[in-house]
Amino acid sequence: MPETQVFSVNPQSPNTECIQIAADVLHKGGLVAFPTETVYGLGANALDSAAVARIFVAKGRPVSDPIIVHLHDPSQLSLVARDVPDLAHDLVHRFWPGPLTLVLRRSPDISPNVSAGMDTVAVRIPNHAIPLELFRVADLPVAAPSANRFARPSATTAAHVFEDLSGRIDVILDGGAAVIGLESTILDLTRTPPAVLRPGGIALETLRALIPDLEVISKHLRPEDEGIQAPGMLYKHYSPRAELLLFAGSLDLVVPAMQSSARQLVETGRRIGILAPNAEQRYFVGIPAQIFQLGDDLSEISHNLFTGMRELDAAGVDSILVHGFEQSGLGIALWDRLLRAAEGRVIWC
Ligand code: TXA
Ligand code: MG
Repeated sequence: MPETQVFSVNPQSPNTECIQIAADVLHKGGLVAFPTETVYGLGANALDSAAVARIFVAKGRPVSDPIIVHLHDPSQLSLVARDVPDLAHDLVHRFWPGPLTLVLRRSPDISPNVSAGMDTVAVRIPNHAIPLELFRVADLPVAAPSANRFARPSATTAAHVFEDLSGRIDVILDGGAAVIGLESTILDLTRTPPAVLRPGGIALETLRALIPDLEVISKHLRPEDEGIQAPGMLYKHYSPRAELLLFAGSLDLVVPAMQSSARQLVETGRRIGILAPNAEQRYFVGIPAQIFQLGDDLSEISHNLFTGMRELDAAGVDSILVHGFEQSGLGIALWDRLLRAAEGRVIWC
């Protein structure tokens, strides 16, 4: 197993020797983790099936779970995908670089194991100077899932990547915390009408304004009842090790329910953690819980969510209590991640 080298790279001026080293690693079939605007990615040369296979091993990820191909320039689309519809070009123009992943027909040049053998390919250009420079120097399409061990919360800092993957990958490019903190929106353009498979950094409302008949079929897919649309989207996902208790309803009912559940759990000897917006810390004063402050608004809460899950895990709690947030904008992606982390169970209040 490789010794993992960590290089600190300034996103303001990423053109450094470290980028060249990382690009060489990609060319030799190695694995490089890098920041993006959503979460950290774990990249391999998408044209090299042996390199792509190493991603699955490093993450402990099932080979049935396809991987997003990352580009640095829209002109590379023809290398990756075929029969690209006009709508894709419009969306590329509007949203790339950015947190929108498009599912298209796969070109034969892309290793089939990138797409778990399916004839489609998911593709995006991240809005972050470090991967853009890395991909430009390497001049390769780069297959990259989130840089976490399978089923763990996605990594939003280089320290998270190190915690999960040190000794299993070659290089980590540390460019600071990922700004958005939740993964990209996945839009499948091979379906009619187009369908969102995972809500994310681009809001559904924004896409609906451009695609009025847009479908949303992501929601917390259960393979047994809906068939596997995006095979990686199994229920247990983005999870802390601790059990996550997800409360939903109006705040005046949710808060007392969380308080009494917290007290009961403490009485039975369980160590508990609470993920709460800053303004709600005061509701839990006097309860012996580890409290993680999520921030003030939806973008801060999204940015901090996975860090909060990881920190409470590191503190050794048995249960994590959290409630859902407003269901618009990033709030829909946030709800999706919370629901998956809670394995689909919601405590309605
Ligand atoms: O923001 C992101 O999307 C991050 C950064 C690194 O770009 N990547 C990311 O990758 O979240 P990953 O592998 O953790 O999640 C991608 C999801 C997988 O669950 C997979 O099922 C789905 O995308 N996916 C990939 N290729 C697909 C395809 N051809 N058809 C349908 N779903 C696909
Ligand atoms: Mg992932």
